[in-house]
Amino acid sequence: MSTDLEAARAHVAEQVKVDLFTLTQDEDNKRGMQEVSRSFLSDTITVPTPEMYSYASKASVGDDVYHEPCTLALEAHMAKITGKEAALFIPSGTMSNQIALRTHLKQPPYAVLCDHRSHIVRYEAGGLAFHSGAHAQMVIPSNGHHITLEDVEGEIVLGQDIHSCPTEVISLENTLNGTIFPQDEIVRISEYAHRIGVKMHLDGARIWHVAAETGKPLTELLAPFDSVSLCFSKGLGAPIGSCLVGPKEYIKKARWFRKMFGGGMRQTGFMAASAAYALTHNFPRLPAVHELTRKLEAGLVEIGVEITSSAETCMVFFDPSPIGVTYLEIIERANQLPEPLKLGGSRLVVHIQTSPQAVEDFLTVVRTLAEEKKTAGFAPLEKKSTPNGRPYGNIYVRGVKREAH
Ligand SMILES: Cc1ncc(COP(=O)(O)O)c(C=O)c1O
Repeated sequence: MSTDLEAARAHVAEQVKVDLFTLTQDEDNKRGMQEVSRSFLSDTITVPTPEMYSYASKASVGDDVYHEPCTLALEAHMAKITGKEAALFIPSGTMSNQIALRTHLKQPPYAVLCDHRSHIVRYEAGGLAFHSGAHAQMVIPSNGHHITLEDVEGEIVLGQDIHSCPTEVISLENTLNGTIFPQDEIVRISEYAHRIGVKMHLDGARIWHVAAETGKPLTELLAPFDSVSLCFSKGLGAPIGSCLVGPKEYIKKARWFRKMFGGGMRQTGFMAASAAYALTHNFPRLPAVHELTRKLEAGLVEIGVEITSSAETCMVFFDPSPIGVTYLEIIERANQLPEPLKLGGSRLVVHIQTSPQAVEDFLTVVRTLAEEKKTAGFAPLEKKSTPNGRPYGNIYVRGVKREAH
């Protein structure tokens, strides 16, 4: 080989190589971890721990497009605990929902009926229209909490009228904004849907929280659905991954769509192992997360803040206007703390890495601002109510005003 070629190769290698770590990588990570423990933005920010990585480092090797042992084992486990025939590991919750719906929808025209606040229509970049060419029939829950069979019956489109777009799938979300969908209402909707030949999908990104809070097994919670998407990367604290479960033939087709969507991955063993670690070690921690969320809510109530969506699992929505304080004032004050708190706005999310101290510090910020306003002469506002007695804030938060997701 000529020395010129050798030199050229060495030059290219020099250009290609990279070290991503800073000189203070360990310190930076410690700070990052500290920030996560003081962030109420989302549970998607939870980070893998050394213990999780240590378990994941022993994962099997293999290319998942040709079937990878740990990933297959995780899929088999997921099928078993959800009571479905088969499961498919998918990189994200968005892709999992979109593949799920694409696999159900075969011959247009067709529509998917869902709550108007659903992730599938609000936060998946219009994927339903793009990937499936489907129309969305968005339902506003008449009770302000969850859609009912009567809400569904009011919006569903059936029949042969060629002007109409028939409902082919009903897609529910549980939890939605951290609230638990009553199981008896899910069963009512599902029995009706199946009677008229409409399929049922669940965005169960946070169904773990329902199982942890109610003690109901996943098999029971998911029995009313033909397909379910579950996420490992949110409340459970895995770095990546979701799972779609359903009938064998359906999952076989979904595997095909996963490839088409660009979601056929290669060495996924460490991802599956991280998810397994999260199921084993983090799922049992969710009741404590919910307890901390309720503590946060109780503190806000005591200060006089309005709760617009109660802490049923890991989220609470609030409105500080009754104490004369704005979201911006809270965000700015929290940001000025020696150890700042990260906040979005009306939504507070608690997760397995939230420190109880962060909750105390947040409440101190809100309490201090309330006292300052009182001293400056602000008289606390009357609680606002709608004609049906629900606070206005409920409608505001449960409407389009959700910030992060
Ligand atoms: C209810 C719900 N479904 C689906 C998703 C999408 O998950 P991903 O961010 O993995 O695409 C999210 C994301 O937070 C979510 O909150």
